[in-house]
Amino acid sequence: MSSFTGQHILSVNQFDRDAIEQVFSIADNMRPYADREKRTQVLDGAILGNLFFEASTRTRVSFGTAFNLLGGEVRETTGMSNSALAKGESLYDTARVLSGYSDIIAMRHPHAGSVAEFAQGSRVPVINGGDGANEHPTQALLDLYTIAKERMSNGQSIDGLHIAMIGDLKFGRTVHSLAKMLTLFRNVKFTMISPIELGMPDSVCAAITDAGHELIVTDQFEGIVEADICYQTRIQEERFPSQEEANKYRGKFRLNQQIYTQHFKSQTVIMHPLPRDSRAEANELDNDLNMHPNLAIFRQTDNGVLVRMALFALTLGVADKVSDFDRPVHWYTTKSQN
Ligand code: NCD
Repeated sequence: MSSFTGQHILSVNQFDRDAIEQVFSIADNMRPYADREKRTQVLDGAILGNLFFEASTRTRVSFGTAFNLLGGEVRETTGMSNSALAKGESLYDTARVLSGYSDIIAMRHPHAGSVAEFAQGSRVPVINGGDGANEHPTQALLDLYTIAKERMSNGQSIDGLHIAMIGDLKFGRTVHSLAKMLTLFRNVKFTMISPIELGMPDSVCAAITDAGHELIVTDQFEGIVEADICYQTRIQEERFPSQEEANKYRGKFRLNQQIYTQHFKSQTVIMHPLPRDSRAEANELDNDLNMHPNLAIFRQTDNGVLVRMALFALTLGVADKVSDFDRPVHWYTTKSQN
């Protein structure tokens, strides 16, 4: 990807290392705005169409917040049943219509490939906020940004990373996108831990091994003590044919203080795209780790705003103009002290 301006962001396959570096360097510049040290009006007058046809809390709100922090307005629709798609309208027609009302669109939809199909009808750039079990490119970028920051604090880069991905690797789009993006780096070791039936798709495994990285596939926690990152995931129950089928896998591969101490080195950083399923029968990431300094889950969610601000600024061609439109913050805020 040589320039982001006017481009759709649909898949991690669009990114090379230079493009990732560019996003990360703009994301760094966004921190004072997210921390409310100052604000910018660079997108004053611009409209984001935020279309979420599938459940979401942080992705939807962080896209909207990111756009607001750049000075833009957000128009939102949530849920399939509230939309004309429920009346049989095609993705193409919806895209033609809504792109007439927006300068850029962020979209989530339960079917793989749907966001790319929508983008074909859109007259403005479309950012994929998750299409079924397929991809979640902005989550991969914020996860990778978080990994880079955590590693940097130990004087390390992403090259040479050992990551353990745990849980529902079959239906979890975040791990598909993150694993593919990590193949762009050097000498990454992947340990995939899941019930055999919920293993990483062959296409993702092939992308890892074809790029020359080490891949271990297992249904045991043993032998991962050296992992630098433990990336836990939720059983994606909404993608199973039935609740009974999903129930079979709930509660497998839980992570809590005791299991963490037993199986991981003391520096292992704990990540999860969230939401974690905190119901007793699932509880894949226990609250007893909440105060652990290596728990990066809320650093991930904070970083999501920075990365999405960077993507909007780049896609709308204002990345180098953000500070030209600075304004002071005049309300009481504790943000920058967090
Ligand atoms: C994830 C998703 O929707 O794919 N959530 C998110 O966007 N942070 C993961 C999940 O729902 O388990």
